[in-house]
Formats: sequence, structure tokens, C-alpha cells
Amino acid sequence: MRRIIVALLVLLAVGVNANGQTARESLKSPDGRLEVRFELKDSVPYYSLYLDGKAVVLDSRMGFTLEWRKSDLASGFKIGRVERSSFDEVWQPVWGEEANIRNHYNELAVTLVQDSYLDHEGRRVDKPTVMIVRFRMYNDGLGFRYEFPSDINALTHSNNQTFNSLVTFWLTDELTEFRLPGDPMAWWIPGDYDTQEFNYTQSRLSQVRELHDSPHISGGWPWKSFSDTGLQTALQMKTDDGLYVNIHEAAVLDFPTMNLDLTYNDEVYRLKVHLTPDATGYVGRLTSPCYSPWRTVQVCEKATDVLRSRLILNLNEPCALEDVGWIHPVKYMGVWWEMISDHSTWGYTNDFPSVRLPGDPSLPPSLQGAITDYTKAKPHGRHGANNANVRRYIDFAAQHGFDALLIEGWNIGWEDWYGKDKDYVFDFLTPYPDFDLPALNKYAHEKGIRLIMHHESSSSVTNYERFMERAYNLMNEYGYDAVKSGYVGHIVPHGEHHYSQPIINHYHRAIVEAAKHHIMVNAHEAVRPTGLCRTWPNMIGNESAMGTEFRGRINPGHTTILPFTRLQGGPMDYTPGIFETDMEKNAPWNHDLMRHTICNQLGLYVTFYSPLQMAADFPEHYEPHMDAFQFIKDVAVDWDTSIYIMAEPGDYIVTARHPKTSSLNLAAEGVGRLRDGKKGVVSNAARFVYGLEEGETLEEREPLDTWYLGGVTDEEAREVEVKLDFLKPGVKYEATIYADAKDASGYVSDVKIGWEAAQKEGYNPKAYTITKKTVTSKTVLKLKMAPCGGFAVSIRERQ
Ligand code: NOJ
Ligand code: CA
Repeated sequence: MRRIIVALLVLLAVGVNANGQTARESLKSPDGRLEVRFELKDSVPYYSLYLDGKAVVLDSRMGFTLEWRKSDLASGFKIGRVERSSFDEVWQPVWGEEANIRNHYNELAVTLVQDSYLDHEGRRVDKPTVMIVRFRMYNDGLGFRYEFPSDINALTHSNNQTFNSLVTFWLTDELTEFRLPGDPMAWWIPGDYDTQEFNYTQSRLSQVRELHDSPHISGGWPWKSFSDTGLQTALQMKTDDGLYVNIHEAAVLDFPTMNLDLTYNDEVYRLKVHLTPDATGYVGRLTSPCYSPWRTVQVCEKATDVLRSRLILNLNEPCALEDVGWIHPVKYMGVWWEMISDHSTWGYTNDFPSVRLPGDPSLPPSLQGAITDYTKAKPHGRHGANNANVRRYIDFAAQHGFDALLIEGWNIGWEDWYGKDKDYVFDFLTPYPDFDLPALNKYAHEKGIRLIMHHESSSSVTNYERFMERAYNLMNEYGYDAVKSGYVGHIVPHGEHHYSQPIINHYHRAIVEAAKHHIMVNAHEAVRPTGLCRTWPNMIGNESAMGTEFRGRINPGHTTILPFTRLQGGPMDYTPGIFETDMEKNAPWNHDLMRHTICNQLGLYVTFYSPLQMAADFPEHYEPHMDAFQFIKDVAVDWDTSIYIMAEPGDYIVTARHPKTSSLNLAAEGVGRLRDGKKGVVSNAARFVYGLEEGETLEEREPLDTWYLGGVTDEEAREVEVKLDFLKPGVKYEATIYADAKDASGYVSDVKIGWEAAQKEGYNPKAYTITKKTVTSKTVLKLKMAPCGGFAVSIRERQ
């Protein structure tokens, strides 16, 4: 195990209050500044949260309502055993923003007991019901969860009470609330059961109702709002006192996803948990022993502290995998953007208005003749994943030292996949006639490139489960070690949601099964993450937010918000690196202009953390800008140190990162089951960090101390000063500065006005300068960012 525990669990106290009276407990953070207070008022549990004695969360209710009971899990309690402890450890993530993460908290576990309950007909049943509320108080926030033990003998201090009356039980509502004093600013997306693919709105909570529908209109599909004041988490807020308060959840397993529903008056803004129902309306079917996810309230005085916080990861369990040597960071390209931007297609032919795949168990013998036969189909000539085109990408990716290439549209079924709620939609096994799977893998491996598999399930979870084992076996057979999965459209089984408990369990099963096959997973459209990648680090990415695929619909400043919200739960496959911002160049009928400069895209490789980073644009769009592309080649994707220099959600982020040299070359070394792979290939970032000349190997050189600096801004141009005091004193470094040119701008008022009209507004996204400069720890760099722009700097010790 990579985990080192440096301090022990200490049982501090055991307290008992079994008389059912009003009872209070409180717990402080290790630095003593944050305090959670728990109280039973007339047998009803409440908690509140304070910073330096001032309320951050006012008295807020806790608990649940249940099916088959007239009494609830939110009143009628007395207190049983109370436990306190402290914990302090430093653990090492397999990949991450830093090599060492401190997990330091004080803990309070309060056992709540009901001696009897009322059944669904109101009859009293003399059996005890026990629920533990566990609080963990960190210096940067609070986590609490509900636990439902099975054996309760030790908890209630009664000799004849052995088993919890909660055995298998169904939740009808969670009553947990977060009552906030005042009307904070918030960066929010609307509450939903299925998608997070929205632009963020920045507003006061009091404005949510009037602004609620607009993000839906420019966002993803399908969406299902439950309320006109529903909000998703992670919800970043800022109080009038300048406190950054963020509500989210950690470790969502075997439980539905939490949304928040807002109600308010002038003084109190109440966010109540709203759980996603399953197809039958329940919001949790549980069997004890079990527990809820952690509900979290992060409290930071500086925006940069939000980015530094590891609250969500820390609340997840340690790595569950014994062997993690096959997991590695990945920098990749893809036969992908050309389909997204309409240059080519996932599908192969126009011959089939409907597709019936071979093997479909619902087809009666009399319909076997209706099975779609691709060998007889006439290709339409626009299929992206064809042998020649894939080879072209492999050549480019290999020439420039990438680790991997994603290929979408390789498998049959794409002619009839979208928006049909179809069950047997793909088989994940059969390639199109013009995609030679064995030969392309061999070709790629010989050049040190791995292919990334694509499994678009079209949200037919039923079907993906049917094929998962065979699909992962096929990947093993040919040496794929990563899959991008997808959940576009309505969930099948019908009536389930992307966030409902059975589907949460499916995503998890896919990760666990993939781990058995040594496969890393990057799921798109799945639920937004809650830190589970600590426990299953083969979960190297997720989309689960509005990513680059939305092109012109992405609001300026979007990428300055995501690290405060979506990224709190885990890395995002944002797919940056789009140099050609005029989509008409990709397809004449696609009129979007994208609102960013080339340097903004470069800055994202540093400000946006992911162990899986893509260079998403076409090779031919990089070719005219190989000098700027050099930064994408040089930048690492896994870090031992990250410094958040300045940030404000919705405005700007400036970050510096130091690469983890131990993982720099893992992908290209041919780990795992790359049967026909060429060993000794050096990845592009390793080449930079080791300062390798052609023909030199890593063994012959020591790494040079290297840092990367990145900045991104919204539609405001900004000038920032960055002190390089994180460099080693007395050492000379060479900085290569990729900056927006004086006349650069990524902003355009209307993304459909066309290139020429946009230029009249000053739109000039490809204008950049590249300068080299000797710097030391005393240097202060002045960097300018254009509207929707940014910068990137590589800083390497001079040889
Ligand atoms: C949506 C995903 O986000 C995108 O990356 C993918 O290409 C398409 N679905 C097709 O699977
Ligand atoms: Ca998507």
C-alpha cells in the first residue's frame, strides 16, 4: 500500500446521555477555528457550524423519512454512545495534484436511539432503531454522514437490544438542510436528475428562481428539473464577509445523488437535500450495516484555499487496489474532435435508418433476416475511424511523444444510436469494416502509442452490463488499458436517472470490474464525482460538466469556475487544446466561433488538474502553430507540488505545478499487457523534464528541476505579477513564456457572427508571442491575459 499513517487513531472520550432530554455536543477543527455543534431539541437532531464563533450554517435539521413507517428518522431520538477521536495521516495518491496529502481531523460520533417506532398502520413496535451521526471536523470544512449499524448492542447500553430494527429499509426523503445566514453570491448550475452539462450562473441565491431556466437552454440533454430553485453540488458560494462556502458530498456509493432545493426569506437561505428518486420513486433502498455519503461544507477564507482543499478526497476511503502499478497518467490525442465539430461522422453508412445488431436476444427467429449486415453496406465516405485516418493520427501522436490515441466510432451501431432509448444499441465488440482493430493496435504499439477504447452505452445500462465482461476481455486481448465510456441520453432501464441509486451502482461496478482487467476508466455523462478516485484510482477521468464539446456555447470564464465546483470531486476530461476556434474550418455549415485564445488553451493544462489530458484539435490545426504546440508536448500531467497563486471563481486562476518525475514516463514504457509494444519510448513531457537530446534515454540523465505556470481569465483582460519565489534559490532557470499578443482577444459578442465580423470586434484568438528568459527565485513575471485569454510558462533549470 502507498499509504503511510503517521499518527494514530485516539479514542478521546465516551459520553452517555440516555435520558432523552435536550443534549448538546460540539466538535472543533484541529486548529480550533471551525466548530460544529450538534443538538437534540425535543428529541429532534440539529447541527450548526461556526467559524471563530460566527455562524456559517445556522441550526439545520438532519434525518430521513421512511416507507412502511409512520414514525421517521428525524425525531423521537435520545442519545446513546458518544465517541470522540482524532486522526492525522499523510497519504500518497497514485496520481494527483501533489505527492502527499494530509488527512487531519477530529471526529465525533453520536448514536441516536429510538426505543420503539410506529409501523405503516400506526401500531407501536417495541424494537430499537439506531442511527449514528458521524462528524469529521477539518481545518477547511465539515463532513458528516449517517450510519445504520446492524448489531447495536454496544451502542445503546442495553443488554437485551441486539439488532437494529432497520434491516432493509427504503428512504422516501432526506431532511438534511443547510440554513445559511444571509444571501451569498453563488456559482450554480440548475438542479437535475441527469446532467451537469450546463453553463454556470453567478448570482445571489435570492436570484436563483428568476435565472433558473437559462442554463438549461444552452446546456446538455436530457435534463429533468425537480424545482425552479433546485441546485446541484458542488455549490460554490461567497458570503458578504468574503468567506468561500462550498456544499458538496463525498463517497457516493449505493446511494442516490444529492441535489439541493432552495427556500428563503430575508434572513435565512435554506438549502434542503433533494435525493434523486429511482424509477419507483424511492430515494434509497438500504440494507444495514450501511451508511450515507458524507455531506460536506467547506469553509475557506481565500479562493486559493478552495483549490488547495482535499476535503472530498480525504473523506473517501484509502485505495482499495493492492496493485496499482498498471495505473498511469495519460496525455492523449483523439479521432474525436472531427466528429464533434461535424467534419466527419461516427457512423459508416447512410444505408440503415434502423439497426438491428446480430445477437439481439429480443429478435425472434422470423426476424433474423432483418439483422443489419455492414459487410453489404455502402460507405458514405465520411467515417472518421477509418484505417488510413487512424494511422495518420497515430503517426502524428507518436512523432510528438504522446501516450495514447482515443478512437470513437470504431464499432457498429452508430447509424441508429442517439435519442432512441434503444436497449440493444451497441455490442462493443464488432468493428466497422474499415477499422482493422488488430492491425491498428499493432501499428500503434510499434510506435509506442496505445489506443484508448470507446464504449458509448447510449445510456443503455442494461446493454452495457450485458457486454461489459466481453468488452473488457477484448480490450485485454489487444492491449488497450483505458476506456472512455459514455452515457448519452435517457437511461435504460426506462425511468431510472443518471443520478439514481441503481445507476450510481452501475458506474461503480464498471470501475471495479475494469480494475480487475487492469483498465482505467474515463466516463462521460456519468454522475459528477465525489472523490471515489482515491479508493479506485483507475477512475482517471470523468466529464460530468460542460466540456469543450459545447464549443461556442461555453460562456467566458467557465473554466475559472469548474475548479471550484466540478473538480472538487475529481478530475475532468475537459479536452482542451483547440487552436482552430472557427468551426467553419471544420465543417462549412458549423458557424460557431469559440471564445478563447490559443494561450488560454495552453494555460488550462496547468490550471485544470487531470491525470488524463487531451490535445483535442486536429493534427493539421496544430501544424501551423508547432511553436505553441510545444507547450502541450512539454507539460506534465501528474504533480508532486501545486501552488495556487491567485484565483477568483468566474474571473481568473493562476497556478504553478511541479511534475512528479516518478510517473513521467509510465505510459510509454509499456506497462500492463502491451504484448507487441516497443519498450523504451520516451514520453514528450519526460523528454522536456530530462532535457533529452535525440537518442538519449532517461537512464543516462537526471531530471532538471522544472515548473509549469498557467493562467486563464474570463472576458476581462488582466495583467498579473507572479513571484517565482517557489524556485530553488540561487539556481538559474530558463522560462519559455507563451503569452497572448498585445492585440489578441478570444471574446466575441455573438458566436454566430462569422470570422470577419468577429475580427471587426477585435476577435483575434491566434495571436501569441513566445519569449525565452533567464529567471531565478527572485524574478517577478509580469503577464498579460487578453479577453478570454491566458498564458503558459515552462520553467526549467538551465543545463
Ligand atoms: C458525448 C461525449 O461527451 C463525447 O465526448 C462523445 O464523443 C460523444 N458523447 C459520443 O459518444
Ligand atoms: Ca458530454
